[in-house]
Amino acid sequence: MNTERTAIVGGSGLTWLDTLKVEQQKIVVTPYGDPSAPLTFGQFGELPVVFLPRHGAGHTIPPHKVNYRANIWALKQVGVKRIISVASVGGITMEPGILCIPDQIIDYTWGREHTYVEPGQSPVKHVDFTEPYCEDLRQALIEAGMNASVRLKKDGCYGATQGPRLETSAEVQRMHRDGCDLVGMTGMPEAALARELDLCFAHLTLVVNWAAGLGKGPITMQDIQSHLEQSIEAVKLLITHMEPC
Ligand code: HPA
Repeated sequence: MNTERTAIVGGSGLTWLDTLKVEQQKIVVTPYGDPSAPLTFGQFGELPVVFLPRHGAGHTIPPHKVNYRANIWALKQVGVKRIISVASVGGITMEPGILCIPDQIIDYTWGREHTYVEPGQSPVKHVDFTEPYCEDLRQALIEAGMNASVRLKKDGCYGATQGPRLETSAEVQRMHRDGCDLVGMTGMPEAALARELDLCFAHLTLVVNWAAGLGKGPITMQDIQSHLEQSIEAVKLLITHMEPC
């Protein structure tokens, strides 16, 4: 067990870190079921990491079926203290191609297992979530992004939708009025579960399309894919500039 490792939860386009020097893989059992994949321990540049692909090694688990509780629990169980959660998003106020480290969340998801608090547990624990992200980790990501010279927005509000369908243009307009800058399907309950377990958690988001109704015509998977491939390179570059914790 190594408490110095940074966890990287990979999203769409990041089911594997190709330059990761793998040390070992571990199947972790949790009280909440199986994580999305075995945990991979290794070295990513100078950074000792534990990597977990959120959608499974073969990218088969849709956003509403990810076992978020098992994933975050497993990372805690192996001694991780901080989690970089990589997630692709649609842009509401920022254009495809940019990376963003959001500082706020609005949760529109429903029906997901979103807490470790059990019915009947006494006392009921209410975690503070005023600032949903770990500011130290946000700042470390921002600094790494500046050193890596990637296009980066330092703040923004992440709106978490249920998926797996994309949004209607009216839903995106509502999210805009609510103050959302980004829309994604996996940000919650991941962030809140990390807070319940006292883990330092931040999102590294990649804007891969204009959100519904804001671009030219319908959102195509080809469009998403082309931005995804470019932005994933920027994500990897940023992470290689992260200081070990
Ligand atoms: N909406 C929700 N999730 C997403 C999007 C989007 O437009 N793009 C990438 N993930």
